[in-house]
Amino acid sequence: MSVLVLGGAGYIGSHMVRQLLANGQDVVVVDNLVKGHRAAVAPEAKFYEVDIRDKKALSEVFDKEDIEAVVHFAAFSIVPESVAEPLKYFDNNTAGMVTLLEVMKEHDVKKIVFSSTAATYGNPVNIPIKETDPQNPINPYGESKLMMEKMMAWADSAYDIKWVALRYFNVAGAMPDGSIGEDHGPETHLVPIILQAASGQRDYIEMFGDDYNTPDGFNVRDYVHVVDLADAHILALNYLKAGKPSAQFNLGSATGFSVKEMVEAARKATGVNIEAKVGPRRAGDPDILVADSTAAREVLGWKPKYDNVEDIIKTAWKWVEKHPKGYDDKK
Ligand SMILES: NC(=O)c1ccc[n+]([C@@H]2O[C@H](COP(=O)([O-])OP(=O)(O)OC[C@H]3O[C@@H](n4cnc5c(N)ncnc54)[C@H](O)[C@@H]3O)[C@@H](O)[C@H]2O)c1
Repeated sequence: MSVLVLGGAGYIGSHMVRQLLANGQDVVVVDNLVKGHRAAVAPEAKFYEVDIRDKKALSEVFDKEDIEAVVHFAAFSIVPESVAEPLKYFDNNTAGMVTLLEVMKEHDVKKIVFSSTAATYGNPVNIPIKETDPQNPINPYGESKLMMEKMMAWADSAYDIKWVALRYFNVAGAMPDGSIGEDHGPETHLVPIILQAASGQRDYIEMFGDDYNTPDGFNVRDYVHVVDLADAHILALNYLKAGKPSAQFNLGSATGFSVKEMVEAARKATGVNIEAKVGPRRAGDPDILVADSTAAREVLGWKPKYDNVEDIIKTAWKWVEKHPKGYDDKK
């Protein structure tokens, strides 16, 4: 039986595929390659270039393959774009989930692990954020993902489809051998942008705002290594296979680092004196976003292997050194 990875040609999905294969699992990947890279998909996985909103094509994959569970990464995830084009997000993310759940129901596939996000919480009321804290998204991206969580809850009540939502905070790093890594177009994540400055692809890194209510005035976030994140998904799949009830877990490191501390850590990890400048604040950036991941550790038994950002950045740097322009398949 196979695990179906939706969005398996993307950054996190491609690492998930490798970790599943390393665990001896058969893997099927569906990705429409709007953002992902064919070269990121491990050759041992079966690949279908399919849009999850294409019900006929998605059903054919379920007809052909013996799918026991789904891991769902296929979504758009750029916050400012979602504010400018909300319907694009409700169409791809939320409506995509309708089609997926219909197809799962029709094929009697009853387990799904879902990429959710800290953006479902909106402005946090507690730090660190717990799973039971209020979810009040402040942008269409977070709203689209919260709606997807709610749809799965109703699909559980009606059709017994069990789900685990993993709410990620900031994901960083790459496969330690540098074979696959982060290559988003456009790139909006902090670590790859800092490393663009380290590798000379941009002149400097702009740090947005130095007057936040944090010890050094810069935004504070927590970072999880992408392989540790993938391992949490495998634990979530095992949790569902053990017949446990649907659940939601935060995945974070519980230790926050400011943007300035991240630049400092990247200077040490790369040995390059990365230039950084302070720019104006961006709208809607909370001071601090840090996850309480106690539940993932206690219930799933998750033990992240990377506990310092310098080591996380070193793996991302290895990917950049090996692939300075990212994947070769730029459209
Ligand atoms: N990267 C982060 O720090 C982070 C943080 C929180 C949540 N997430 C969530 O994790 C998931 C994966 O993130 P990522 O950084 O790997 O993104 P990504 O863009 O690299 O990967 C998403 C993949 O899904 C594919 N895809 C998108 N829409 C599709 C569709 N309709 N049909 C088929 N394939 C489709 C894309 O081609 C891409 O390969 C996203 O759902 C995102 O919301 C990511």
